[in-house]
Amino acid sequence: MKSVLVLYYSQSGQLKNIVDAVAKPLLACDQVQVDFAKYQPKTDYPFPWSSDAFFDAFPESRFGITCPMQSMDIEANKHYDLIIFAYQVWYLSPSIPAWSALHDPTIMQIMRGRPVVTVLGVRNMWVQAHYSITQRLKVLGASHVGNLVLTDPANNLVSVITVIKWLIEGKQGPNGIWPRSGVPLARIEQSYKYGDLILNALKSENWASLQSNLVNAGAVDINFVLKTIETNGHRIFGVWAKMILKKGQAGDTNRLPLIRIFKYYLLFMIFILSPIASLVFWIINFLFFPFARKHIRNIALMH
Ligand SMILES: Cc1cc2nc3c(=O)[nH]c(=O)nc-3n(C[C@H](O)[C@H](O)[C@H](O)COP(=O)(O)O)c2cc1C
Repeated sequence: MKSVLVLYYSQSGQLKNIVDAVAKPLLACDQVQVDFAKYQPKTDYPFPWSSDAFFDAFPESRFGITCPMQSMDIEANKHYDLIIFAYQVWYLSPSIPAWSALHDPTIMQIMRGRPVVTVLGVRNMWVQAHYSITQRLKVLGASHVGNLVLTDPANNLVSVITVIKWLIEGKQGPNGIWPRSGVPLARIEQSYKYGDLILNALKSENWASLQSNLVNAGAVDINFVLKTIETNGHRIFGVWAKMILKKGQAGDTNRLPLIRIFKYYLLFMIFILSPIASLVFWIINFLFFPFARKHIRNIALMH
């Protein structure tokens, strides 16, 4: 009998739906026992968010400043043959609950020396967060054997508007001309096929080819233009987050004016600068297509 632990957090339920779909073949297999455990902040983040709370989460997300977590209802000494760690991205970084979970003593102990598959349900920019999580899993002594990433397929500018409607107004849509925000339900439902690949690797204990099998099955949504915008955005976010943190800790009203300026800067960057940058990166992608494709595939294969 193989045992699998699925660790997740989800505000809207989207990431939980994704892990449920991925875990389906594991749950259906009588040689596998699956435990689910939700990691959760002691004081949870609001959903839907107020605008100020949403932007106030930015500096701590960017610099990986952890929040107090509820104690986990799992046995720290239990040996798992596989751990599925599901997380979402906040501000191009692992979400604060996800990053905090990877500093929780029980989770750290459980992960040491164990194979870990990461599962992401995000808007469309996740690569920098993936680098951070990969590094963190290395520090914990876990073996990062696979990564799958589901995104919102809408155009970048459209999905910014729809994700704000979803996360701040609580309206996931479709609303009028705006499509439904988030990972399409059909794509989530189809994710059992990635679970099949994970199950095969688990049964054979051969993890070496799991990630290339996942990538070949389309389990990693990645795009050269978005990835390049993200790399630059992450750097600029660092400068802003540092300035805001100098004004105070999370929730400190002293930093609210700067948080609000950051919000307008972000909207300017997304709606004015990023279309110009996208065009430039699109041309680079077009001119150096084989290089760009290889670069993107290497990131998709990275774990
Ligand atoms: C504060 C905040 C910041 C976010 N930033 C990003 C981001 O930088 N990149 C991205 O692809 N998605 C981003 N998202 C979307 C989330 O990754 C995720 O898809 C969405 O919040 C739904 O997750 P849930 O399952 O927790 O409800 C952000 C969401 C929140 C709440």
